[in-house]
Amino acid sequence: MKTNPEKIELLYEKAKEAMNKSYSPYSKFKVGAALITKSGKIYTGTNIENASYGLSMCAERTAIFKAVSEGEKDFETLVVIADTDGPVSPCGACRQVIAEFGVDEIVLTNLKKDFKIMSVEDLLPYGFSGEELDDKNSDN
Ligand code: THU
Repeated sequence: MKTNPEKIELLYEKAKEAMNKSYSPYSKFKVGAALITKSGKIYTGTNIENASYGLSMCAERTAIFKAVSEGEKDFETLVVIADTDGPVSPCGACRQVIAEFGVDEIVLTNLKKDFKIMSVEDLLPYGFSGEELDDKNSDN
């Protein structure tokens, strides 16, 4: 699907609103995400930290898990924003979760509106997928 500037602008604003809801008292690093489904529904997410640091959840996964738990699995665009010098770079765990469901385009950005548009394959080349597990299951 061709990148649509109005859709990106709307998702940018939604991701920024989500970023402002970040619960990040430990890192003070606020992240926001906005995900639009192929049917046009928008799910947002922010990062939610915990005093037990390893329990923290990233913004991207919050948005994806919210959507999937509402029965959505067909995604068009994911926008991710943070107050970084260049477009924010998603962590490895989020790349793996993004790849699980797929999304046509991932738009990485920041408060200065620097943009980087990537595919899942750009973000996670040679990633692990369920196909490996299918091969294993067919042996049994
Ligand atoms: N964080 C995200 O929300 N997304 C990423 O892709 C990178 C990291 C959050 C997790 C933690 O709350 C804070 O940023 C610092 O790592």
